[in-house]
Amino acid sequence: MNLINKFELDKILYKKHLEKYSDEIFNEILNIAKNGLENKIKELKNKERVDKNDDNKPKIKAAEYLSKTEIEILPKWVKNDIDNAVIIGESKQVIQLKNGKKYHLKNKLNDLSGAEWNYFLNSVLCTRYRTSGEESYAHDIRKAHPSPKPPQLMKDIISFFTKESELVFDYFAGVGGTLLGSSLCNRKAIGFDLSSHYRGIYQKANEKLGLQEQTFICGDSLELLKDNGFMQNLFKNELASLILIDPPYGDMLSRPKTGEALKQRKDTSPTPFTNLKNDLGNMSWQEFLDNFKQSIEYGIKYLKKGGHLVVFIKDLQPKEKEDNLLHADIVKALNTINELNYIGNKIWADLSVNLYPYGYPFSFVANQIHQFILIFKKR
Ligand SMILES: C[S@@+](CC[C@H](N)C(=O)[O-])C[C@H]1O[C@@H](n2cnc3c(N)ncnc32)[C@H](O)[C@@H]1O
Repeated sequence: MNLINKFELDKILYKKHLEKYSDEIFNEILNIAKNGLENKIKELKNKERVDKNDDNKPKIKAAEYLSKTEIEILPKWVKNDIDNAVIIGESKQVIQLKNGKKYHLKNKLNDLSGAEWNYFLNSVLCTRYRTSGEESYAHDIRKAHPSPKPPQLMKDIISFFTKESELVFDYFAGVGGTLLGSSLCNRKAIGFDLSSHYRGIYQKANEKLGLQEQTFICGDSLELLKDNGFMQNLFKNELASLILIDPPYGDMLSRPKTGEALKQRKDTSPTPFTNLKNDLGNMSWQEFLDNFKQSIEYGIKYLKKGGHLVVFIKDLQPKEKEDNLLHADIVKALNTINELNYIGNKIWADLSVNLYPYGYPFSFVANQIHQFILIFKKR
């Protein structure tokens, strides 16, 4: 099978002084091409079979099959193309648009198509978000915080766990990764943070992005959360569908810097979020765990039944006999709360973090470029 032209390949390799590897490279490319071709043939045959099947089935027009009220509650992207949509499948619960996107009529969780839902289920998420230009979502402003979360990442999580216009709550809001993410997908959000400096940065970033400003209150979350009068007045009659929080990772940032952080900053001094005593980032791990669990006990009163709690956390390096699996400690602590069920996690790997040769050449020391996204559901 002559899938590639060896003569053309040799010309390229000659220019790069790699002609002696010609056979090796030729065989490798041939193998890749053969596999690709076989997969494509399978995919196209499958598509032809499905299309033929579909062509023979009578089409049910969605606009005629569904009532006005059923159409009214559909996500915008479905509603906007309802005249070209059809109902498919034996159960008559799936609506398909002209572009092939499908939406399940029984989807009570989010506004995603079947394929988007499936994509989110990947348990490992590797990203390299931009830190400059328009796609950085005002990173130049938000970087004044020691660990801002990318709004695009928060938007993807929010889009999975809520529908349009629902309410999101983040009571460790920092410079507003969750609040910006909520605005980007048209959700309402409430945020708390100890620091008014961080609120100012959020407002500046929000203004630069021209987004809807969300409610951001400064204060100690634990104090605010346990004040029933204040909370009821704030939430009025609506509960959050999602609590999305990124708490301090124990006292990780209030320790002197080492490794890559030291290399970048050329300074060992710690970067605590604030110097306040009630900052959870200035507490020992056990003290953090107790306070954090208490905040969740108070906070989930404002989460809908069936709503989700999503928590970001990063492990620390193991030391002597200490495993430092902070994510496991949090799962165990929160799973003792009666109304909550731990239902799984995703791993977020931030590929924009440079690797540091820890331990080289003597010992294995991992680069922790990943964080855990822990997911709980309220019963
Ligand atoms: C990891 S950061 C959150 C970053 C945020 N996700 C963002 O995108 O900017 C944790 C935040 O918790 C805040 N914090 C710590 N203790 C707090 C408390 N007791 N009440 C309210 N906020 C607190 C810190 O000021 C810090 O901004």
